[in-house]
Amino acid sequence: MKKLFVVSTLALAAGFVQADTVNVICSVQAEWCNMIGTVYGKTTGTKINISMKGSGEALAQLIAEKDNPKTDIWFGGTGDPHLQAAEQGLSLEYKSPSLSQLQVWSQQQAAQSKFRTVGIYSGPLGFGYNTELLAKKKLQPPKVWADLLNPALKGEIQVANPASSGTAYTMVATLVQMMGEEQAFEYMKKLHKNISQYTRSGTGPIKAAARGETTVSISFVHDAPGEKMNGFPVEAITPADGTGAEIGSMSIIKGARNLEAAKKFYEWALTPAAQEMAAAAKQFQVPSNKSAKVDKNVPDFKKIKFINYDYAKYGASAERKRLIAKWEKEVNSLPR
Ligand code: G6P
Repeated sequence: MKKLFVVSTLALAAGFVQADTVNVICSVQAEWCNMIGTVYGKTTGTKINISMKGSGEALAQLIAEKDNPKTDIWFGGTGDPHLQAAEQGLSLEYKSPSLSQLQVWSQQQAAQSKFRTVGIYSGPLGFGYNTELLAKKKLQPPKVWADLLNPALKGEIQVANPASSGTAYTMVATLVQMMGEEQAFEYMKKLHKNISQYTRSGTGPIKAAARGETTVSISFVHDAPGEKMNGFPVEAITPADGTGAEIGSMSIIKGARNLEAAKKFYEWALTPAAQEMAAAAKQFQVPSNKSAKVDKNVPDFKKIKFINYDYAKYGASAERKRLIAKWEKEVNSLPR
């Protein structure tokens, strides 16, 4: 008894107060996840555990741990699987007092999910290409979706797998909305002949294009400037015949063990200062807080031809599952 008293008195005297812990699944690029972890941990004294997962993989983990969640908050990744998580009751309803400071598309994402997710950034889908490899092949940069079917690009294009990657699912949903489902699948079957690899992560293809491992990638265009800044010969372009955009999202997990810490992190992540950290980590999405500075490397939305992406429809569980299964069966299983 006496010993216990001495130990606890010593602990108090040494200032051992239990710090907050928050367990985060982070679905943006590692540089940004790491920066968030370091800055948030240091400035708030919170113990922050970060696990990095692509959007589709993150959703699969949350489904698997539904009855015993080990995650408190899911930061980033494309919006469709966040909407699916909301629909499946995996995320918690939470109305941030900062909602009115956010862009309309971010508030719409929140309203659509009955406030179980919120938009933290947005960015357009497009093509990445290695300028040196294209020049060597005497090819022009692809300008429209049909350009990717050029036989000269056989084995020269990479895109991720839509089951694990939100980037690739955004492509599938974009094509279905642009061309109609039947045409879109015909297109993807033809495209399949030119694909060398379907990567797990959405950023694998642009990294491969930057490093000269593939000539062309289908990627979010905001993932290119960071590679270029690292000295690689890579550019990105949005298709002139139209493209879709993601609404990168954030959700608090239902049953989070550290709910108060999760809410604190959520509020912090919506502040302009936290959102400006993306550009500091060479990530160039449009931030959702209207007061956050927009870096000059962020793609200019006014110059892009966007489709009217139906986030509610393509974020619905049944539709997302159906399209991914169909892609597996009708596209991925084909010989090349
Ligand atoms: C990159 C992009 C993000 C995007 C994420 C999706 O990190 O910078 O804007 O949300 O990829 O990752 P995924 O692996 O799911 O395609």
